[in-house]
Amino acid sequence: MADGTGSLLQRLECRSCCTQVDPGRPVGVCPTCGLALLATYALDRLEATAWWSGLSSRPATLWRYRELLPIGSPESIMTLGEPMTPLVPLGPVPEADGVAVRLKDDGALPTGSFKARGMAVAVSRATELGLRDLYVPSAGNAGIALAAYGARARSRVRVYLPERTPEPMPSAARAYGAEVRLLPGTLREVGAAARALEAGHGGFDMSTLREPYRVEGKKTMGLEIAEQAGPGGMPDAIVYPTGGGTGLVGMFKAFSELATLGLIDRVPRLLAVQPEHCAPVVRALREGSPRAEPWEVPTTLAPGLLVPAPFSSERVLEAIRGSRGGGVTVSDREIVAGVRALAARHGTSASPEGAAPYAALPHLLRERLIRPGESVLLYCTGSGIPFAGTDWDARLDAGPG
Ligand SMILES: Cc1ncc(COP(=O)(O)O)c(C=O)c1O
Ligand SMILES: [Zn+2]
Repeated sequence: MADGTGSLLQRLECRSCCTQVDPGRPVGVCPTCGLALLATYALDRLEATAWWSGLSSRPATLWRYRELLPIGSPESIMTLGEPMTPLVPLGPVPEADGVAVRLKDDGALPTGSFKARGMAVAVSRATELGLRDLYVPSAGNAGIALAAYGARARSRVRVYLPERTPEPMPSAARAYGAEVRLLPGTLREVGAAARALEAGHGGFDMSTLREPYRVEGKKTMGLEIAEQAGPGGMPDAIVYPTGGGTGLVGMFKAFSELATLGLIDRVPRLLAVQPEHCAPVVRALREGSPRAEPWEVPTTLAPGLLVPAPFSSERVLEAIRGSRGGGVTVSDREIVAGVRALAARHGTSASPEGAAPYAALPHLLRERLIRPGESVLLYCTGSGIPFAGTDWDARLDAGPG
């Protein structure tokens, strides 16, 4: 496809069974095996070096990467002005002596989290394909982002949240005009119930990796890091708070496409951080399994990381292993200490998920997944502002459940 935007979108492909699908029609998962479909691009048609050096003259939003995004016509782009987000050197971090630490702050995006990247692209593509009735089961941020971009697209949106989702998340999604339903259980049960309720009603499931284009939006995390880091400045490792793991799949896809284009010569190691009582991806890494098995009794106070059964975890594990990365777990107490330290020491407002990579630094050093002398990027996926009034000590004392 080479038209209005110059998008080089070519096909959708299942990496598990090699089925290929025409991207011109609405499609969710692989029709053969039921796993995630990923987009491919006609990279050989891009004048890579000129394209890369010309990006700086384009507006500083994620749409500057439009050739590597799936939207064909400029009118379909539903944007709230997604800015390139700050990449901030943190200065000395006592827990990580000798490591150069930078923080990528996606709290600066519309709706306050990195979920805006995926939904900006997925809602635009849905609009282009004529899909106007959208739903998502969500831990909170994805639902809020879908509600906002759905409002922008004037589409109908239904958001299904676990009934324990903290305010202001449900209210924020409602404020954008979405219909919000609270259901029992974690995202696993809520997802199953939402799909059952929606069956036969014609709504389109915007769940992460069950829809092929949110991951393309997440890909802009990696494209942006490579561009901001500049030649020679690529971090040795990227530490990422992992729930469903789409961000890891997206970043690995970005670095793979840039490497194919000859624009980078090194892929950062992708390091997953999960809460100690909900760590299916880290457990699969430790056990050498090809996929993550569901976590039995999941608990954490970081809502976005309460994902006991990530969908298409094959792709997530491939991204981590393909980058020679790894994973560690952190306790809720360490996450809360991270939220506090990022704010009071570094002036950065992080959600509990966004603070998990900071909290993981001592574990990563101990397990030699990062070493003194290296440069490490902590991915802060969400702003702490919605959590500003939270009594963390009371939440910790209340314990699981
Ligand atoms: C702030 C935040 N960080 C991280 C995650 C996990 O993201 P992923 O599904 O890409 O692992 C979520 C998911 O809800 C989130 O809201
Ligand atoms: Zn398949």
